[in-house]
Amino acid sequence: MTLDLKSLVRTIPDYPKKGILFRDITTLIEHPEGFKESVERIASAHRGLNITHVAGIEARGFIFGAGVAIALGVGFVPIRKKGKLPGETIGQNYALEYGVDTIEIHADVLNADDNVLLVDDLIATGGTAIAAVSLLRRTGATISRAAFVIDLPDLGGASKLRDEGVEVDELIS
Ligand code: PRP
Ligand code: ADE
Repeated sequence: MTLDLKSLVRTIPDYPKKGILFRDITTLIEHPEGFKESVERIASAHRGLNITHVAGIEARGFIFGAGVAIALGVGFVPIRKKGKLPGETIGQNYALEYGVDTIEIHADVLNADDNVLLVDDLIATGGTAIAAVSLLRRTGATISRAAFVIDLPDLGGASKLRDEGVEVDELIS
């Protein structure tokens, strides 16, 4: 495992709005070893920690989160954008680097016996991840760890998430 994962992420300026440097993971996941190593490195850092579920945030968090759940041998909880889940849901609003949105989970998916690892492709302002942690914690489950392929440290999200009592790992900074 010696790949330079950072070199596999493409940067696209001014997407989706002027002034945003968009870190595009499609070039990483097109690379078979890069994709595999990203998933394996997150999974390896979380073996033996009694993780019961991986929760991934729509849409890019599904790509990595599903792989990590399979690698750890645990179930996957989709955190979806508003209106996409068919059962009874609980939801949380949040602000993005470039907009506002609402995320939801099924109301009956987790309970106080569960220990959830949150996975997403990227943390920027932390708005999405903090909303996800608040939402997941409303089920009574423990959410003490989160993993991201990319952290944008200048935007301070990982640090805010640590202030919420979450241990944060990232592969690329
Ligand atoms: C992106 C990214 C994270 C979030 C990070 O998702 O995948 O979920 O933004 O930003 P933050 O730390 O400032 O909250 P986006 O909402 O663009 O959705 P997508 O995965 O559907 O592209
Ligand atoms: N989500 C929030 N900020 C982002 C960025 N700069 N690049 C890719 N995804 C993002």
